[in-house]
Amino acid sequence: MPRRDFSGPDDLRAMQELVQRIYQVGARFHLGDLGWEYNSVAPERQAGWRIALWRDGDEVVGWGWVEGQDLLLVVDPARPEVAGEVLDWFRESTSGDSLGCSVLESETHLIAALAKAGFQVHEGGHFYTHHTIALADLGTPVVPAGFTLRHTRPDEVEKRAAVHRAAWSDLRPSKMTAEVMGAVMNTWPYRSELDWVVEAPNGEFAASALIWLDEKNRVGLVEPVGCATEYRRRGLGQAVNLGALHALRELGAVEARVCPRGDDEYPQARKLYQSIGFRPGLRTVNYRLDL
Ligand SMILES: CC(C)(COP(=O)(O)OP(=O)(O)OC[C@H]1O[C@@H](n2cnc3c(N)ncnc32)[C@H](O)[C@@H]1OP(=O)(O)O)[C@@H](O)C(=O)NCCC(=O)NCCS
Repeated sequence: MPRRDFSGPDDLRAMQELVQRIYQVGARFHLGDLGWEYNSVAPERQAGWRIALWRDGDEVVGWGWVEGQDLLLVVDPARPEVAGEVLDWFRESTSGDSLGCSVLESETHLIAALAKAGFQVHEGGHFYTHHTIALADLGTPVVPAGFTLRHTRPDEVEKRAAVHRAAWSDLRPSKMTAEVMGAVMNTWPYRSELDWVVEAPNGEFAASALIWLDEKNRVGLVEPVGCATEYRRRGLGQAVNLGALHALRELGAVEARVCPRGDDEYPQARKLYQSIGFRPGLRTVNYRLDL
């Protein structure tokens, strides 16, 4: 099967289209995962990635994305043999004493290929648990007096980047810039009607929630959500999610997904989602090959 190295936005779109084509409850990724993951990092980090696509004619049937010694992979379940090719490429092109790969527990075609290549389940470490919510019956968002709940406008890139930094600097300072956020806002299928914020009385953004809509499968992915530290535990995280979820429903979606950490080292995100009605489902499993 011919392999081609990633060469720009058209390839990202082709990778997203594979994810959309094979989407189901048991699939690890939603096309929004790629829109966010690819664009939301500094160019220096992007430069360290190795991404390759496998095509059958015009159709992408698999891809691999390596950072350091870790692989993300997507393979059409109807073409399980491609997973072995992605793993061969990963092994041949990666140095170090161990290789890692995380998949959803339901991705049996990938799990079989990992086992065949000698990978074993690696207990411990972080994992993620998919959560879903049906949009038929959503709660009503409520914000404190003086705060405003609304979607962003395309010209609010600076403020949008600032609220992300203010929410995502607990562990280490966020590297989000207006330039990086601009790249997110310019990628398919971002739309500002699904990028919600809570505006504080002083005009700054206090919380944000971005949803990516897969129109074909009528499902949205919530990624990311944040509330600036000084505004936390006042219900803004709930309100901004609910605002975005109502907008998602108005655009024809029937379900939303979010993938917070499932391990007990970082429970706050899943607690927030569960507090508005998301329910846990499948989890990721980490595999490792010691060389
Ligand atoms: C997670 C986060 C968005 C919560 O925002 P928030 O505005 O403080 O959340 P809310 O006030 O709406 O909280 C709603 C409920 O979520 C749960 N919750 C929120 N933060 C929590 C925490 N730190 N610990 C435990 N439960 C928490 C609680 O059930 C809470 O209800 P309660 O306050 O009545 O107990 C915020 O802490 C944040 O931005 N963290 C860093 C970024 C992040 O982890 N984003 C989500 C990753 S996918």
